[in-house]
Amino acid sequence: MAPYRLEKPPADKSILVLSGKGGVGKSTVAANLAISLSLQGYATGLLDTDFHGPSIPKLLGMEGTTLTSTDGKRLNPAELGSLKVISVDFMLSSRTDAVIWRGPMKMNVIKQLFEDVNWGKLEYMIIDCPPGTGDEPLSVVQLIPEPTGAVIVTTPQEISLSDVRRSIQFCHTLKLPVLGVIENMSGFVCPHCGEMTELFGSGGGERMASEMGVPFLGRIPIEPEIVSSGDSGKPFVYHNGDSSFAKDFDSIVKDIVEKV
Ligand SMILES: Nc1ncnc2c1ncn2[C@@H]1O[C@H](COP(=O)(O)OP(=O)(O)OP(=O)(O)O)[C@@H](O)[C@H]1O
Ligand SMILES: [Mg+2]
Repeated sequence: MAPYRLEKPPADKSILVLSGKGGVGKSTVAANLAISLSLQGYATGLLDTDFHGPSIPKLLGMEGTTLTSTDGKRLNPAELGSLKVISVDFMLSSRTDAVIWRGPMKMNVIKQLFEDVNWGKLEYMIIDCPPGTGDEPLSVVQLIPEPTGAVIVTTPQEISLSDVRRSIQFCHTLKLPVLGVIENMSGFVCPHCGEMTELFGSGGGERMASEMGVPFLGRIPIEPEIVSSGDSGKPFVYHNGDSSFAKDFDSIVKDIVEKV
């Protein structure tokens, strides 16, 4: 059976954020990328497809959001400024319930998150995925007619890099263009003396990208304030637009916008 496809793409450009390994910063990258695009004036949507650990609502301070419907048929997305946000978390009755979903059920819910939501006309749709190459990214790639591509997040360690090779392979198999690799948690700048310490090594992401023949988008250092802003639901670039992290991140976003 041919996989089900949406009748039309959810946005002019749809970008998946993937990684092979958990906890490398996908949701952080997805949230800050979406906010950055929306602050630049692009009509942007952010879709969190992580059934087992949806973290976008927490990152954006939107936990406990209940969605409304104007026509009784389709749901209105939650909004952060002009950014439209949907998380599977908004659909779950109890946040602490462990969710047990099988592949086909996930595919159906993900389809609804595209079709039964009033996204309006979007220029960008950023899709945060759970780690790995499972049902969620597969469903998204099969549902969207001609998705624009994937941004792959890794950390500098070898173990994370070998997982990321699998993500790149996944994209190649599905003919999903790899927009590039971001090396997150790449070094730590001492807030006292300004010296950079490479806690997990550095440059692995760039080497791996070049070995695999995919673009390298850049490095993001460990930024203590990202942890506190994530925990307090105040997305970093939204509240710290002048920081050096935000500037580094902006140059990555600029690169992505030029590419697509
Ligand atoms: N550059 C960074 N500096 C400091 N902390 C970071 C950075 N990037 C991410 N973090 C922190 O690391 C943790 C994991 O990040 P995040 O939730 O974005 O990862 P993930 O890849 O989406 O995880 P999962 O696989 O569980 O979905 C969070 O607490 C986040 O605040
Ligand atoms: Mg995540």
